[in-house]
Amino acid sequence: MRLRRLLLVSAAAVALGGTLNVVPVSAGSSPPDPSNQSLKALGQRHNLYIGTAVDMAALDDPADPKYRELVKSEFSSVTAENVMKWESLEPTRGTYNWGPADKLIEFARKNNQKVRGHVLVWQNQLPTWLTEGVANGTISTTELRDLLKKHITNVAKHFKGKIWQWDVVNEAASDPWDSPSSIHLKGFWAQHLGPNYIADAFRWARAADPSALLFYNDYNLEAFGDKGPSDKTYYVYNMVKQLKQSGVPIDGVGSQGHLGTQYGNYNAFQVKEALDAFSGLGLSTAFTEVDVRSQMTAGVQGGDSNEINPRLQASSDNFSVLMQACLANRHCLSFTFWGFTDKHSWVPTWFTDPLEGLATLYDESYQPKRAYYAIKSDLIFAGPPYVLPRGKK
Ligand code: XIL
Repeated sequence: MRLRRLLLVSAAAVALGGTLNVVPVSAGSSPPDPSNQSLKALGQRHNLYIGTAVDMAALDDPADPKYRELVKSEFSSVTAENVMKWESLEPTRGTYNWGPADKLIEFARKNNQKVRGHVLVWQNQLPTWLTEGVANGTISTTELRDLLKKHITNVAKHFKGKIWQWDVVNEAASDPWDSPSSIHLKGFWAQHLGPNYIADAFRWARAADPSALLFYNDYNLEAFGDKGPSDKTYYVYNMVKQLKQSGVPIDGVGSQGHLGTQYGNYNAFQVKEALDAFSGLGLSTAFTEVDVRSQMTAGVQGGDSNEINPRLQASSDNFSVLMQACLANRHCLSFTFWGFTDKHSWVPTWFTDPLEGLATLYDESYQPKRAYYAIKSDLIFAGPPYVLPRGKK
């Protein structure tokens, strides 16, 4: 009798599993060993795309096959770490270098991966012909605006239909440590074109590729602060609210998620609150550049486990907080790491005083770290009622 009931239950589970696309668990058997499943397979249960930034030199390096293998096997979305930036695409005025970016798009197509386009408008990694031309007065403000429109149009059209999400405008807001400390629009574009370049950029991008989701992307947006004038998350919240209300075609906010273990950081509820605020405006959300760096003290560099272990544990916790918040916000479409191995991470080349590192999921020899398992367990143990698949009603 008891056996019969179990058999019936398991038959029902198989039937359900068939329709809901979940792994059926029949009596007496256990679910598949999660350690054999990739991040992307586990993300799929939630309809959440798991991405990585891709360094094209590493992807193409025959001496480093593991890099390519892991980009393929672990991730369902890719972002060009550098090759879609203006200085890479148009190093000489009027001459485009599409090769490396096209290679990534082709790689993604072959491996059934989505592509996040990064980036259309940013004040960094601009070609020198542009910045110098503006500085020496040979490029006027009117011409600069035309050049930006042309850039967005050409780039978005070139990749039309192949980009899932575009970072249309990146890092436009200042930080509280800037002067003045009240958050404002900063950098090259705001200085030369004034605040309206943001709305213009979204409109030009939409016109060029109507099917891509258009994102505003920035760092230090993980959680609200005091909602005063120096609260960057609150500033960006109000900015995108305004854009939305004015009918500007913006679809999402990308929270970069560059964290460091030396800071206090947040809990998952605080991060979820910020994502919920953005999605409450009718926007999608995404984590777009997640990494968690640590200071590379002499002890860390010397292999002292007393110094290394607390960093690995803190990093794992911080990764996890962002992932849990993303899982809990049904509009959080993708979770992208800014590189996945310490062998190829921007952190030690960028944060040098003091030196920082240890910022990714795998060490320099491609051994998964504690954070990798934490992310996996977040994906495995999350489910209803707090975590529901995204994008489906
Ligand atoms: C970084 C790259 O990782 C580096 O290789 C490059 O030298 C500088 O840019 N925010 C962004 C990314 O939006 O484009 C930056 O990428 C990291 C910070």
